[in-house]
Amino acid sequence: MENKIIVIDFGGQYNQLVARRVRESNVYSEIYSYRVGIEKIRELNPKGIILTGGPNSCYLEGAPNMGQELYELGIPVLGLCYGAQMMMNDLGGEVGIAPVREYGKTKTYFNGESPLFSRIPEESIVWMSHTDYIAKLAPGFEIVAHTDDCPVAAAQNIERKLYAIQFHPEVLHTEYGKNILTNFVHNICGCEPDWRMDSFVADSIGKIKEKVGDGKVLLALSGGVDSSVAAGLLAKAIGNQLTCVFVDHGLMRKNEGDEVEAIFGPEGNFDLNFIRVNAHERYYSKLAGVTEPESKRKIIGEEFIRIFEEESKKIGAVDFLAQGTIYPDVVESGLGGESAVIKSHHNVGGLPDFVDFKEIIEPLRDLFKDEVRKVGLELGLPEYLVFRQPFPGPGLGIRIIGEVTGEKVKIVQDADFIYREEIGKAVAEGLMEEPNQYFAALTNMRSVGVMGDYRTYDYAIALRAVRTIDFMTAEAADIPASVLQRTMSRIINEVNGVNRVLYDITSKPPGTIELE
Ligand code: XMP
Repeated sequence: MENKIIVIDFGGQYNQLVARRVRESNVYSEIYSYRVGIEKIRELNPKGIILTGGPNSCYLEGAPNMGQELYELGIPVLGLCYGAQMMMNDLGGEVGIAPVREYGKTKTYFNGESPLFSRIPEESIVWMSHTDYIAKLAPGFEIVAHTDDCPVAAAQNIERKLYAIQFHPEVLHTEYGKNILTNFVHNICGCEPDWRMDSFVADSIGKIKEKVGDGKVLLALSGGVDSSVAAGLLAKAIGNQLTCVFVDHGLMRKNEGDEVEAIFGPEGNFDLNFIRVNAHERYYSKLAGVTEPESKRKIIGEEFIRIFEEESKKIGAVDFLAQGTIYPDVVESGLGGESAVIKSHHNVGGLPDFVDFKEIIEPLRDLFKDEVRKVGLELGLPEYLVFRQPFPGPGLGIRIIGEVTGEKVKIVQDADFIYREEIGKAVAEGLMEEPNQYFAALTNMRSVGVMGDYRTYDYAIALRAVRTIDFMTAEAADIPASVLQRTMSRIINEVNGVNRVLYDITSKPPGTIELE
């Protein structure tokens, strides 16, 4: 990729967002830790470099840094927040604790003559989040934006192509953030807008064909967005040299197994070998009597591997094992290792190496989720599949608290279907925004109720809906009472075995999004 921007990660929370915004300007970008060193950057030969925010103070000993050479490469550099402060500090300015800490939406005044701020208004709102500030400019820099409390909201040294911004243009709360990043990548770095999903599809079909030749490829298809798009792309490229194994563990949402089969099976849109393994009973008997959440996840994960192993033995040796790995998986696995395991995500980290294959093929490895979705649409996959919500690998197994049984799966499937239908209607009617993830879960609690003239003793369904950007933190979504009422009354009337409906208002932390 000739037109490439490198985003250098200093540990801030919005770092993937920076790369995504650059790509929304149709310019390819990649994220690297600041630890990669200057030689690697030189080798990558980007047209521009963006330094991200981070939690450190740049003037303290041991603070992340890339050394002076970064500014001598002749490549335009844009520092954001920590990146801006580090640049100033490195080049002879001063950074210290701000007399007034800024957090949140902040009115900012811009100098429209700066190439960073061309064609944006002289005054607008930005997102600030800083304790340190640039107290004194480095020599050769001039101030090009300020706020009432922050004298240097942005500075530039046009001659050296160095730019520093204290606020976060990548966050949507910054009104003209996208324009500012576009100005940087197009006007200052001179990147052509050549990163587009239609050309990505054409290019990767060519690359897959070349790599695979007349070899055989095996893919574990889960029915989620990533593996489905990978399957579609591979099928377009190599047709029935691809075999997809779809393990239906009986813990899918209502109708989901049949939907996957309708698209990828013999009656579907693609020419590939599709194997559906209906493993409901096998799973339910393995899960009988098991109540501990981590044990349930382990059993579900191991059983999946065993079934996949059995099927791949029938297929015999293959040349490639395909996976729906996407860019955030790559970035996160590269940076991870320090945070505690809260829950084990069995499908992160990939499949073990029991399958007899020569090489791994990961056609979506460079893409963010929104890009994967665009590719899915390009390939003609239906919208309900492409815009499917995140769904955990262990499926409804972790949305049923306690022991999993076929009967409980049916209850949670039916309740969840009604809930998603009602939220869908409310969103279409403009009553609410669509939450980022929402589902019904079956609590293991039974309570007394009355229906007609009879006493009931049935399960309680918990409705969950969250707003989140990164799924690491989340808030319960505001759902209008009328929507909750309607959902409750439909669930009670239409789903046998439920006599109570609860709305879970817990944020994350302290709760997690899933209930187990
Ligand atoms: P939690 O419950 O950890 O969920 O707050 C955060 C996000 O991750 C999804 N999730 C999983 N995804 N395998 C997955 O592939 C898993 O075992 C798993 N557990 C949780 C969850 O749906 C949410 O989007």
